[in-house]
Amino acid sequence: MFLKSIKIKNFRNYESLSLDFFPGINIIYGNNAQGKTNLLESIYFLSFSKSHRSFIDNSLINEKYNEAYISGSLCKDDTLYKLEIGIDDKKKKLKIDQNEIKKISDYISLSNIIIFYPEDLNLIKGSPKDRRHFLNSEISQIYGNYLDVVNDYNKLLKMRNDYLKKLQIGEVVDLNYFDILNKYFIGKATDIYIIRNKFINRLNEFNNKIYLDILGRDGFYIKYVSNLSNIDNSDSVREELENILEKERNNEIKYGKTLFGPHRDDIEFYLDNKNLKYYGSQGQQRVAILALKLAELEIFKKYKKIQPILLLDDVFSELDDIKKNNLLKYISNDLQVFITTTDLDSISPELLCQAKKIMIDNANVVKIEEVE
Ligand SMILES: Nc1ncnc2c1ncn2[C@@H]1O[C@H](COP(=O)(O)OP(=O)(O)OP(=O)(O)O)[C@@H](O)[C@H]1O
Ligand SMILES: [Mg+2]
Repeated sequence: MFLKSIKIKNFRNYESLSLDFFPGINIIYGNNAQGKTNLLESIYFLSFSKSHRSFIDNSLINEKYNEAYISGSLCKDDTLYKLEIGIDDKKKKLKIDQNEIKKISDYISLSNIIIFYPEDLNLIKGSPKDRRHFLNSEISQIYGNYLDVVNDYNKLLKMRNDYLKKLQIGEVVDLNYFDILNKYFIGKATDIYIIRNKFINRLNEFNNKIYLDILGRDGFYIKYVSNLSNIDNSDSVREELENILEKERNNEIKYGKTLFGPHRDDIEFYLDNKNLKYYGSQGQQRVAILALKLAELEIFKKYKKIQPILLLDDVFSELDDIKKNNLLKYISNDLQVFITTTDLDSISPELLCQAKKIMIDNANVVKIEEVE
C-alpha cells in the first residue's frame, strides 16, 4: 500500500499544503524546525487517527486557527481510498470515501503504518505505561479486534475497581456480583495476555536477525513481563489468573483496587541477557528500537501479506556509515518509505537516486526532485 497524495490545512506549522508522493522512497529534507517531523506526523495521523507524539489533539492544530484538516489518497490492493480527518478543539471527524466512520478500529484497519522517531528511545527508559501504550497501538494494527478487547477490559477494570472501593469501605458486601464481574474480567484479560504474548513471540522471531544485520551483534530479544508465570494457552492463563485473584482477594479489597491483570504488564529489552534499560549504550538502544520496528514490518509482510508504509524520522543522524548501509537492506523499493533528514549528505547515493526528494522550508515545499 502507499499514500499517493496528501492535503494539509492548519496542521502544526502548516497552513496549506498539497503534495504527491512516490510509491517507493520519499526523502523530506530541510533545516531544523521547518516542518519535516510535522509532515510525517500528518501522514501517521491520517492513517492512524492519532499522533505518535502527542496525546492532545489540540496541539496538532496550527496555533493561529481553530480547526485542522488532513486528507489523502491511499492506494491499497489496486484500489484508491480517500481518507479524511477533521479536528477541532472538541472532536475528530473521520471519513473514508466520504462516509463518516464512527468506530476508530474500522478507520485504522484500512491502512498500516510503522513509525520510527527519535523519542522512541523513551520506550526503553520510560515508564511501563508508555510501553503498554506502544504494545496496544502496534498490536491494534495487526489484530483487528484487539482495540475492542482492550476497551472492554478497561471498562471492566473500572467497574471492578469501583466495586473493590465499595467493598473496602463496607458500602457493599455482595460477592456474587463481584464473582460475575470477575468472570468477564478474566475472560478479557486472558485474550489480552494471549495476543500480547503472540505478538512478542513474533517480534522475537525477527528481532535477533535484524539486530545482528544492523549492529553485527547477536542476542537481542524482548521479554514479556506479567503477573503470570506461564502464558502458553488460554486455559492455563485463565486458571492462573483465577487462582491469583482468589488468593489475593482480601489484599485487593484492602487496597480498593485491581492489583493483577494486563494493565500491570511490561516489556523489557535484552542484549546478551543484560537489560538494555540499565546496560545499553544510546546507540544500542536506538538500534534495538529500530530492530523492533523492522520486526513489525516483517510480521506484516509474513503474516498479513501486507506492505505497510514506513516512516523514519531522523533515523540516519546517529548511525555510523556501516550501520546506515546495513539498515538500507531493509528499506526495499517495494515499500513506501518516508525519511526525514537535515542533511542529504547523510544518505547514501544509492538511496538518493531511487528517491523522490522534497525540500521543506518554513512549512512550504520549496523544491521537488522526482525519481529519474
Ligand atoms: N500547533 C502548532 N502551531 C504552529 N506551529 C507549531 C505547532 N506545533 C508545532 N509547531 C512548530 O512547528 C515547527 C516545526 O516542527 P518540526 O518538528 O516539524 O521540525 P523539523 O523540521 O522536524 O525539525 P528538526 O530537524 O529539528 O527535527 C516548530 O518550530 C514547532 O514549534
Ligand atoms: Mg524533526
